[in-house]
This record gives sequence, structure tokens and C-alpha cells, in this order.
Amino acid sequence: MNTMKEHFEEEAKEFDRIVCNLIPHYEDMINALLSSIPFDKTQPFHTIDIGCGTGTVAKKIKEKFPNAKITCLDFAENMINMAKAKLKDYEGISYILCDFSEYEFDKKYDVILSSLSLHHLGKDKKPFYHKVFMNLKNGGVFYNADVVIGSSEYLEKLYLSNWKDYMAQSLSDEEINQKWLGRHRKDGNPEKLMFHLKSLEEVGFTDIDVIWKYYKYAVFGGRKKEDSKQ
Ligand SMILES: C[S@@+](CC[C@H](N)C(=O)[O-])C[C@H]1O[C@@H](n2cnc3c(N)ncnc32)[C@H](O)[C@@H]1O
Repeated sequence: MNTMKEHFEEEAKEFDRIVCNLIPHYEDMINALLSSIPFDKTQPFHTIDIGCGTGTVAKKIKEKFPNAKITCLDFAENMINMAKAKLKDYEGISYILCDFSEYEFDKKYDVILSSLSLHHLGKDKKPFYHKVFMNLKNGGVFYNADVVIGSSEYLEKLYLSNWKDYMAQSLSDEEINQKWLGRHRKDGNPEKLMFHLKSLEEVGFTDIDVIWKYYKYAVFGGRKKEDSKQ
């Protein structure tokens, strides 16, 4: 089993407790991600949450859009099991246990979302954005809430220092430096925000924008035109 997957399998039970200590304004970021969904509350639409973790985003979608159909995808079985437990009272939810780098979409979606997951794609982010674009319905949207790198050495230092200060409110220095920052450096693979925006434009998205940002974290995405031929 690869180490990253192993980490997520081990962390699944603790994830909801630790995420708010690790990610500044996690709630706000997820709320911003949800606010990108361009549908009325009662409209039916089909969305996929890539790297769904314990199902937090899916639960918020069902609370706001009760008629949404949601596909939750993750490669960690323990995360999927946590999501199933969290979402047991909701209908219209399906699960895919799969590595997203190998995933071939089963259908076209109205909305494709992801949070804190796609930075793991490394250099394959642009081809993945192309795949996402091809598997969106015309008029559909894709938004990603994720960690980014500052666009200069100075800004990256600032972002990291802000992140460390945030974590220091609830975690020890050892935990921050050895566990979380160590993992971020080893497995993270984040990119500059401009790289994402440019890649989205190059694969065909329009209305590209950043709807939320706090130092190292951002929510960004775009739309596939109504009259797209692809
Ligand atoms: C930091 S968690 C975020 C979970 C959730 N999206 C949230 O914001 O609460 C990242 C999730 O992405 C999943 N993940 C990471 N790499 C993956 C891959 N290559 N394929 C599928 N899932 C992956 C992990 O198992 C984990 O559940």
C-alpha cells in the first residue's frame, strides 16, 4: 500500500477532529466551495466530490440542496466508511473507492468539486483538469478548495508562517514541524494559484475566478460554456 494512502486510512477516524486544527478557516473554505454551486435549493443536479474524505462536503451539499445526487470518491476505504456513516440518513449518494489519478469518469456531471485533495496529483494537475472539463455537462462548474504555494519566495514564507502560527494554537512544535509540515513537503505537491488558473483556462474553462483565499488556501474554479462542443 502506498504511504500516502496508508496515512489517510489511519487518519480517517481522527480526521474530523484534527482538520479544524490544521486548516485555518476550514468551515469558511468549505462554505465558499458550496457557494460556487449555481443551482437553486430545490433543483436536482448531479455532483461528484473527488477525495471526499469523511463526507463533510457531501453532507453540507445535502443540507443545502436536498435533491442533489452526489458521488463520493476516495481511495481510502476507512474514509469512505466514515462518509457512509455520516451520510446514512440521506438518499441519492453513491460511493466510488478509487485512486482519482486513475479514475475514468462514468458519466458527465453538473458540478465537480474537490477539497484538500487534488494537490496530491503532482505534475498531472493540468491533464486532470482537462479530464474534469471533458466530463462536465455544458454549463457545469468545477471548483477546487486546496493548498497553494505563494507566488514569490517572500509570499510562500509568509503563508507558511501564517499556517504554522495557526497550527500552534492547538498543536505542539514537534507535531507541526515533523508530522504536518514534513508530510506537506514530502507528499504535498501544491502549485501556485496562477498555475491552476492558467491551466483551467488552457483546458477550456471560462468564468475562471478565485472565490475565497486565506494565505495558503484558496477556492477557485470555472465553468464549461453552455455551447461547448467538447
Ligand atoms: C485532506 S483529506 C480532505 C477530505 C475532504 N475533501 C475534506 O475537505 O474534508 C484528502 C482526501 O483525499 C483522499 N485522497 C488523496 N489522494 C487520493 C487519490 N490519489 N485518490 C483518491 N483519493 C485520494 C484521501 O484519502 C483523503 O480522504
